[in-house]
This record gives sequence, structure tokens and C-alpha cells, in this order.
Amino acid sequence: MSHVYVSHAPVDLDDLLKLHEALRAASIPDWYAPDDSNDRDRNNRAIDDAFAMVVLVSAASVRSKTVRQDVERAKARGLKLIPYQIDKARLNGFFKQEVQPHLRLSNALPDGLDQLVGEVRGAYRRKCPVIAVMNLKGGVGKTTVSAQVFGAWHGHIGGRVLLIDLDPQYNLTQTFFPMDFADESAAKDRSVISLFERSRLHARDVVSPAENWLGLSTEPFAPVARTSLAHDLMAGPGAPSSRLDLISGQFELSKYAFATDVAKLERIKTHFLRTVEFYRSEYDLIVFDTNPNATFLTRCALEASDRVLAPMHTDIYSLRGVKLLHQVIAEQVDPAKRPKLSVLFNAVGRSEQSTFEADARNGAFDAVAGFPLSKALMRSALPLSRHLSVRAPKEDDPAWRQLTIHAGRGGGLKQIRESLKTIALELSELEAAA
Ligand SMILES: Nc1ncnc2c1ncn2[C@@H]1O[C@H](COP(=O)(O)OP(=O)(O)OP(=O)(O)O)[C@@H](O)[C@H]1O
Ligand SMILES: [Mg+2]
Repeated sequence: MSHVYVSHAPVDLDDLLKLHEALRAASIPDWYAPDDSNDRDRNNRAIDDAFAMVVLVSAASVRSKTVRQDVERAKARGLKLIPYQIDKARLNGFFKQEVQPHLRLSNALPDGLDQLVGEVRGAYRRKCPVIAVMNLKGGVGKTTVSAQVFGAWHGHIGGRVLLIDLDPQYNLTQTFFPMDFADESAAKDRSVISLFERSRLHARDVVSPAENWLGLSTEPFAPVARTSLAHDLMAGPGAPSSRLDLISGQFELSKYAFATDVAKLERIKTHFLRTVEFYRSEYDLIVFDTNPNATFLTRCALEASDRVLAPMHTDIYSLRGVKLLHQVIAEQVDPAKRPKLSVLFNAVGRSEQSTFEADARNGAFDAVAGFPLSKALMRSALPLSRHLSVRAPKEDDPAWRQLTIHAGRGGGLKQIRESLKTIALELSELEAAA
């Protein structure tokens, strides 16, 4: 669990609580020392788990030994510092050197607190980017990329990776688990619907939203612990700092495509966005596999994502899918929330299709696509390979055996593993530069 650490002097309790409330409303977990004892071990552990540190800069905190030691620890760990001035304190030598260079925000500005929350949110998102694998064309490899490219990400880059199956066809779930297992999990609401509506995971006495096909529940709910919702696909060598999890899918997500109560859907979307935001604290990367048609789920996925990764085939039908996708992003999503778009050629063969790829890279299709496709294209591509064709999981096999980078046999495997790794590394570079 990661949080923003708030370093403060005990007398600045009012400002601390105001900030705590604002972060809570933004679904960003925070941590601050619960009393005024300078328990270094406890504070250092909390700093080491943090993704950023807010320093409340005041006349009292400038003199505080605790705050000084917090800042020194943050510096030693390379933690991002976000100072926030709350009174007209005169900075001493240490603060001038370590804190002032980062100091831009103050409660003297009318929207100072909003700006602070915005800055913390930015750091929180960079810590755990959310990527939606999406194309408004079916069968282009969304599910394959979700499993195999991000399985390779987990294998080579490590960290804590969460896959979420947002497609009512739930093929991603069936990639890893037998159908019965997936359906039994969904029957207990241990599945994706629990990101949208209050379910039996949140309270025993509710009717499952999956059984309530025509009804939409807008009751608020607190996200459950990740272990109660996600399935463990693979723990990495450095577990628990490395893991690959899946929130399994289900057909019942289709209910939102039939619902007509716009106000209720809007509330449900807000619950989904908040819940995903909450789970960012538990992971270093979140990935959605999505459905091929534009629905309510598409909007949810787009608003929750920092990046859309669109696999496409080297043909004009896929090009049209990417064009529509770009259009939907531009038309449906607020500029402030708009995800970046990266396009990945999938199932590239050696034949004349590679001419299509070369033309696309040279900008020949930019006008047809309606946006600079050549600039959105990833350098690496995923070749056509029998090692990527679907096979049902065997009853007794662990889920991770479905990952091409860990299992399989035969010629060409080395090459396809190398491609998967190259794509994962390119994506992680894009994220690091974002
Ligand atoms: N690079 C590849 N080489 C060989 N087969 C592939 C490759 N990519 C995908 N496939 C196969 O193509 C088929 C469609 O892929 P996949 O299910 O990933 O597409 P999708 O975009 O998720 O489809 P849908 O729109 O139905 O969700 C599957 O049988 C898959 O195994
Ligand atoms: Mg799919």
C-alpha cells in the first residue's frame, strides 16, 4: 500500500486535517504521524512506502526536528517533495537549501489547496499508470496483448501489475482460468462488477448487482482489500513487491449497455473511477482489457486511463477502428482527462502487409486516420506467431503457464519472447517519459 506522506509540525493540525479531507475526496491515500512523538522507525517505514511527500511549511515546521529528519529521509530515498506554505514562516538554512527549490504552492493562493491536490494526484498517477488496451475493432489482439505484453512487463520490469477484464466477453479471464472457475468467482461478486456497484463483497445483505439485471445501485461503497477481489496469477521473485493479479470479468457487465438512466450511470462511473484510483496505491501498473464496441464501459475505461494502447492489424479495417477510437477519445473525454494514444502493430507477417506497416510509419495514412498516426505508432511490433494463438488453460496448470514468456515449446519461441520484452520495455519508457 502506497500513500503520500504528510510531514508537519503538531501545531499545524487544522491545515493537516484540511489536506487530509481534500486527499480523501480525491481517493488518494495519505499517511501522517498520528501523534507528536518523533518515532523515527515508524516514520521512516512510512516514508519508504510513500510515492511523494507533502511538507507543510510553517513557522513551527521550520523549527521541527521531526520535519527536518523526514525531509532528509525523503532526499536520501529520492522521494518527490511537494512543499506547501501555510503561513509566513521565514525559512532557515536547511529549508532554504532542501525545501525552497521545490516550493511553488501556498495557501495564500485562492485555489492553493486544489493545486496541491492536483500535484499530489499527478505523482500518484505516475507511480501507477493505467493503460487501456482498446480498439473499436474486434479481433485485433487486445486480449492477447493484455495478457502477453503485460505478462512480459511483469517478467522483465517487475513490480505489481493488475489486469482488469472489462470486456463482457471476459476472454482475458478465460485465458488464465477455466470457465467454471471464472463463473464461480463472478457468482460471489469476486469480479469486475464490484468496481462499479456495491456488491456482496462489500456487504452480505445486498442483492448481487449481477443478478439485478434491470436495476442500478448507486449506493456508495468502500473498496475492499485487493486480496478479496483480485486473483493471484503469479508472484514474482521479489514478492510481495512483485505480483501479477487479475480482476476477473463476467458477462453481466453488459447490463450497463442496456441501462437508460443517465444520472445513475454517471454515479456508477464515478464509483468505478474512484475505486480504480484507490487500487493505484496497491500496484505499479493497471491494465484494462476492453470490449471492441463503444459503450458505457469504453467511457469508463477512457476516463480512468492515462494511456490507450491500440493494437491494430496491418489492414484498412483496423485503421478504421483506430480512427474511430481517436475520434471517440477526442469527442467523449474532457481534455484534462484525455489519455495518450499509442498504436501497436499486431500479427505482422512477412508478406505485403509489411508494406502497409512501412507506409503507416511514413505518414501515408495520417490523413485517413484523421490524426498523426505515424507519431502514435510504437517502434516495436508484435509478429504473427502460433505461440500467441489462444489455448484453453489446463485444469491443473497454474495460471502463469498461459504466459508466453514463461511457458511453451518449439521454434520461434525465443524470437516472440524477445518481441514481447521489447514492446514492454518501450511502453515502460513511454510511461517514464510521460
Ligand atoms: N500476434 C499474433 N499471432 C498469432 N495469433 C494472434 C496474434 N494476436 C492475436 N492472435 C489470435 O487472434 C485471435 C484474436 O485475438 P484476441 O482475442 O486477442 O483479439 P481481441 O481484439 O481481444 O478480440 P475481441 O475484439 O473479440 O475482444 C485469437 O485467436 C488470438 O490468439
Ligand atoms: Mg478480447
